[in-house]
Amino acid sequence: MFPRDVISAGPLLLRPPTDDDTQAVVQACDDPVTARFLPFLASPYTAEDARDYLRVTEEKWAKGGAEFTITREGRFVGSAGLQPIDRYGTTSVGYLVAPHARGTGVASTVARALADWALDHGAARVELEAEVSNLASLRAAYKAGFRQEGIRREGKRLRDGSRNDQVTFGRVAGEPGEAAEPYFPFFPGGHLTDGVVRLSPIGEEHVEGFQAMMDDPVVRSYALAPPGSLPDYVRRCRYTGFWWMSGQRVEVVIEDAATGAFAGHVQLVNVAQMLHQAMVGYSLAPGFRGKGFMGRALALLVEWVFAATPLRRLTAGTAVDNTASHRVLERAGFTRQHIHRQLLPRLDGGWSDDVEWLLLHPKLGEKS
Ligand SMILES: CC(C)(COP(=O)(O)OP(=O)(O)OC[C@H]1O[C@@H](n2cnc3c(N)ncnc32)[C@H](O)[C@@H]1OP(=O)(O)O)[C@@H](O)C(=O)NCCC(=O)NCCS
Repeated sequence: MFPRDVISAGPLLLRPPTDDDTQAVVQACDDPVTARFLPFLASPYTAEDARDYLRVTEEKWAKGGAEFTITREGRFVGSAGLQPIDRYGTTSVGYLVAPHARGTGVASTVARALADWALDHGAARVELEAEVSNLASLRAAYKAGFRQEGIRREGKRLRDGSRNDQVTFGRVAGEPGEAAEPYFPFFPGGHLTDGVVRLSPIGEEHVEGFQAMMDDPVVRSYALAPPGSLPDYVRRCRYTGFWWMSGQRVEVVIEDAATGAFAGHVQLVNVAQMLHQAMVGYSLAPGFRGKGFMGRALALLVEWVFAATPLRRLTAGTAVDNTASHRVLERAGFTRQHIHRQLLPRLDGGWSDDVEWLLLHPKLGEKS
């Protein structure tokens, strides 16, 4: 049973909700981002829905949970709560920030404060879940000192009946709860460009171009995995922001800067954070080959990698007969290392040799 405390968290105050919050709750909930990520809420959201929420809030306190209105300088900025502590000592935290207050550290401050408060009041473990595409909530969890623990596949039903994966986080008693800083920052201003190509994080909106490119016979002949279905590619494109934010991968769309057309894809995979090493992979859609697009894209990506990330080694792997790819890598400064015999799966079921390429951070000599 949590006490009905008022909790102070930096500039924020958390207090039990009152009927005076009704209108502010409507404003926070009758919003497209809220509707997208909290599909159990009514949409449109009315004053009647807010009054129901305030009634349920009282029941939540009575059942051993906690629900708060978050204010800053007296103004409503959101709501947050904790589930009753279960028989194993576990509770979970949830939050919603009013549109006008987003991006100002409310969710991360509140998640940290409520986790500390729950751990001080008998909980041994505090859980938090965010949809794999809810980058603001994922970032808030990392900033609040939660550790990423796993994925609940199709753990959430969306408003249209489809399902999405949930990333699970936890904080346990005795942990320092340090904020996790991202290994890969996002591109400054959202993209990199040289005026001819534009590089941005790939997302669900690129799925059609991505699938068409992956279905091209030349791309398929060099692909490591069999072709996917549309839902496979939607799922993959939903994950890319989370992969980036969690330092697992960087997935980038290459667009024609003049028209915005999908031109291709470049990625950093096999990220070994301990070694500060990653592997580059790429493909262009057929209509954009032979124009120097991949050379430009790689030059932009490599410059960003060595200026803005901790990576010091970039590797690449190509089939031995992929001359166009060899030329792209040579022009970007990569040097040929060695042959990995029989590494790459072929469409006919056999295996082919792979050439490994390497590019070191410009401050590292070949021998250092
Ligand atoms: C998710 C939500 C609670 C976040 O609240 P918030 O107060 O804006 O969160 P914070 O300001 O503490 O942190 C947000 C972080 O995400 C980052 N962020 C936001 N949108 C992002 C995006 N599209 N891509 C990458 N980062 C993003 C912000 O830059 C900030 O990080 P920074 O401080 O390092 O710059 C708020 O967006 C919201 O209420 N959404 C609707 C309901 C919801 O999703 N609830 C949570 C369900 S799990």
